[in-house]
Amino acid sequence: MTQNPVKIAVTGAAGNIAYSLLWRIAAGDVYGRDTPIELTLLEIPAAVRGAEGVAMELNDSAFPLLRNITVTDSADVAFDGANAAFLVGAKPRGAGEERADLLKNNGGIFGPQGRAINDRAADDVRVLVVGNPANTNALIAQRNAPDVPAERFTALMRLDHSRALSQLAEKLGVLTTDFENVVVWGNHSATQFPDVTFATVKGEPVIEKIDHDWYVNEFIPRVAKRGAEIIEVRGKSSAASAASAAVDHMRDWVQGTERWASAALPSDGSYGIDEGLVAGLPTVSRNGSWEIVQGLELNDFQREMIARNVAELKAERDAVADLLP
Ligand code: NAD
Ligand code: LMR
Repeated sequence: MTQNPVKIAVTGAAGNIAYSLLWRIAAGDVYGRDTPIELTLLEIPAAVRGAEGVAMELNDSAFPLLRNITVTDSADVAFDGANAAFLVGAKPRGAGEERADLLKNNGGIFGPQGRAINDRAADDVRVLVVGNPANTNALIAQRNAPDVPAERFTALMRLDHSRALSQLAEKLGVLTTDFENVVVWGNHSATQFPDVTFATVKGEPVIEKIDHDWYVNEFIPRVAKRGAEIIEVRGKSSAASAASAAVDHMRDWVQGTERWASAALPSDGSYGIDEGLVAGLPTVSRNGSWEIVQGLELNDFQREMIARNVAELKAERDAVADLLP
């Protein structure tokens, strides 16, 4: 193990998601079991002490890869030299709220963090926004970081992707790994479109194995509203599953995957999604970059479902126009 450590910043380090996420990162689940890690934990001043306690527990776990932990309330310190940034710190919604309701409180967090990433992060920085509403928060961060290539800013749709796989596996009595070419398009919101049009299970079309009524009236809304269902049943928003999805996203980005994954990326204008909107897309990861799967022929239902997401993302973008330079 001769490599220099990678520097990973995690915001919201005293919160629920971070309490799962940090242990997976420190174990080497993102960069691999032979890459040493330095962690920087960013919190608001009132929660720095809590983050210091988290750092104490990380140290007590004696991870072989973990070289150093810095706890700070300064974004400039947190993102200095960062190769990866998990932007988790933001308020979660409560029962009865939509994620877009959080925009007013949470949107303001991501401009300053985008600027600090712009000024301080390493050239190869990869940013994953988890804090909700994740797509539009990622847009805010990206637009405040003009010197960083836009595609370095992403938002988490992997939890929705995993939820879709889990629902399909349960329905068809197979493993989640038996599926290929599943995608969740659009916004990480109730409007999202979990799409099985191109999906296969053990090489055969999924669409031929499921009832259309189940697909449209049960599967799609179940996946799209799973976050609210977790809040209702658990009493708090998803945390360990979100952390697991964040690890999957960043690991695939760093290490590559030929299997389709859903990631929210700044759109290149394909599939009728306005360029620049941060939208869930079908992706593979090659040579350290997400690539949008190109050339798919969309049917009318897919186009309509994607258009709903575009309209919602544009409305969110308009609502935060004052945060977008
Ligand atoms: P939490 O309330 O347990 O923790 C959030 C932490 O962020 C708190 O410790 C808070 O002090 C900190 N924080 C707030 N503002 C900050 C700032 N400016 N800088 C640094 N830290 C800051 O919440 P949680 O359960 O960990 O969830 C965090 C966010 O992730 C929420 O917005 C939630 O809705 C979202 N989430 C997204 C997904 C997804 O799939 N995209 C899934 C689950 C949760
Ligand atoms: C989720 O999908 O579980 C998170 O975005 C939390 C939420 O508010 O639903």
